[in-house]
Amino acid sequence: VRPRVFVTRQLPGEALGRLGGEVDLRVWEGELPPSRNELLAEAAHAEGLVTLLTDRVDAELLARAPGLRAVSNVAVGYDNIDVRACTDRRIPVGNTPGVLTETTADFAFALLMGLSRRVAEADAFVRAGKWRTWSPTLLLGTDIHGATLGIVGLGAIGAAVARRARGFGMRVLYVSRQPRKDLEAELGARRVDKRTLLAESDVVSLHVPLSAETRHWLGRAELAAMKPGALLVNTARGGVVDQDALIEALREGRLGGAALDVMDPEPLPADSPLMTLPNVLLAPHIASASHATRGRMASMAVDNLLAALEGRRPPHCVNPELFP
Ligand code: GLV
Ligand code: GLV
Repeated sequence: VRPRVFVTRQLPGEALGRLGGEVDLRVWEGELPPSRNELLAEAAHAEGLVTLLTDRVDAELLARAPGLRAVSNVAVGYDNIDVRACTDRRIPVGNTPGVLTETTADFAFALLMGLSRRVAEADAFVRAGKWRTWSPTLLLGTDIHGATLGIVGLGAIGAAVARRARGFGMRVLYVSRQPRKDLEAELGARRVDKRTLLAESDVVSLHVPLSAETRHWLGRAELAAMKPGALLVNTARGGVVDQDALIEALREGRLGGAALDVMDPEPLPADSPLMTLPNVLLAPHIASASHATRGRMASMAVDNLLAALEGRRPPHCVNPELFP
């Protein structure tokens, strides 16, 4: 018999059609994710789960899903999954690194440029009929070329952002657990300590996964240590920033602005002060959202799932210790 697989949302591209040829497939058709109870009920009969970052896979879910043998997240980040609990049950967990690196870096740069040159504000200004004449003081922003970019986490995405920054004539600083001598040579990026990065960067861009160590990495003290008027770009996870402290810094004008593709929580509640602050640029977690990349992510997630269901190591597995 074919293994039962539950997919928590429709996915773009050919991947689900391919999966349907191999397994007993059930796809959640809602525009919104399954509720917690719906997810638990579906997982109870599933041997494989294809999840999104909106779906929490934790010890409670695993306890209620005795037949579960594979979890495949359609994302590079997997902070929605208790990987240790999966490993304890010998369940491989897949993710989708690599395919989204350049697309995500493109969007981080779009946010950086949109914020520093006030693109969204300019668009709203024209559409509102407020444009009366060319003015030497209209919508002045800050220069990107010549500015210092501080990259937090020089993994694949951070490095792809550093390459773009180099092309724009920026000076690049980074903090990272591992030094990247290759990129220092290639891009002239300089590894510095956290304090130096915060003090010297005109723009700080976050590229670390969310974990116990990185939660609120940018807190009140770090925001206070940033260069006055600096900009923040976050395409990582909302929880990497202490959002209340960020709002305070933006309100007080200590920070020049923030461009956020990720927030805490998501979706951002309508009454969040971030909704009304003028120097904030917001996007609904779409950094990897190109047609091509989302299709590749779905395909990679299906490859990971099928491998795990066949007892093979998923091509991209976050708990590879299950396959010594
Ligand atoms: C999206 O946020 C991802 O982790 O792929
Ligand atoms: C905000 O739009 C900024 O330029 O800081």
